[in-house]
Amino acid sequence: MQAKVVIVGSLNMDLVTRAPRLPRAGETLAGQSFVTVPGGKGANQAVAAARLGASVAMIGCVGDDAYGEQLRTALLAEGIDCQAVTPVSGESTGVALIVVDDSSQNAIVIVAGGNGHVTASVVDSFDALLSGADVIICQLEVPLDTVGHVLKRGHELGKTVILNPAPASGPLPAEWFAWVDYLIPNESEATALTGLPVDSTASADAAASALLKAGVSKVIVTLGEQGALFASASRSEHFPAPKVQPVDTTAAGDTFVGGFAAALADDKSESDAIRFGQVAAALSVTRSGAQPSIPTFAEVQASAAHSAAQGHQS
Ligand code: RIB
Repeated sequence: MQAKVVIVGSLNMDLVTRAPRLPRAGETLAGQSFVTVPGGKGANQAVAAARLGASVAMIGCVGDDAYGEQLRTALLAEGIDCQAVTPVSGESTGVALIVVDDSSQNAIVIVAGGNGHVTASVVDSFDALLSGADVIICQLEVPLDTVGHVLKRGHELGKTVILNPAPASGPLPAEWFAWVDYLIPNESEATALTGLPVDSTASADAAASALLKAGVSKVIVTLGEQGALFASASRSEHFPAPKVQPVDTTAAGDTFVGGFAAALADDKSESDAIRFGQVAAALSVTRSGAQPSIPTFAEVQASAAHSAAQGHQS
């Protein structure tokens, strides 16, 4: 089966500690637990799209070490096409050092390792995967030149191109916007891209307007428990988030992006794809870790049916 969703992005091993709170500068805190779990925004989105119903291929690089092998094995176990997950000799695999606090917030430091080797020429050697895709997704944990190259190629090929600008530290090259069908930032990324404060539906709407003016065709600002704000030239709509008790928000954004892409690849409407991604992301925050927290299609369906039944009763 040809991959309908192709992700060009990062694979990280997440080194995760739980602590009562995030440490302050110069402080040493005692953590409560430590685990290593497969992560990386690109790989998380690949796993989300696969568990949520899409046929998926991943383009990325790992080191020639044990973590690289474990990450590849984890993707293969999800049925993801890993022919383009390339080991780089003499390099270490990307890692993310993550602290999760008692209020389920996190702080993350990433070290690129193999992810820094995802060049345009690596991607070009797997052009057949891009050509066979319906939806192409990029994030910003691989070199920016490569991201621009993939967005442009995806647009030339007439694919649906999604950019999750994460992590974002400032404005993006303006020419990228014409190549992107859906730009999906969270609050802090929307702020980094526009310079506008984003912490509410109204401020997300203002940031989305600025991004539309800059040339993006559609924007979805994810706002955590405040839901998501969709905006295009013709309309703007707020989608409330399902209510859940959060345990760990790591990979919630990735789950939304992967779920949204899987639903689009399955010809769902844009609004249904957003709602589907939201239910998936809400389930993911009730569980710990990146890839282990991502729900299956059946779990999302059951959760959506349960919420609908509750809605009818109230
Ligand atoms: O979005 C969550 C991811 O960000 C983690 O899995 C970590 O690897 C970092 O890339």
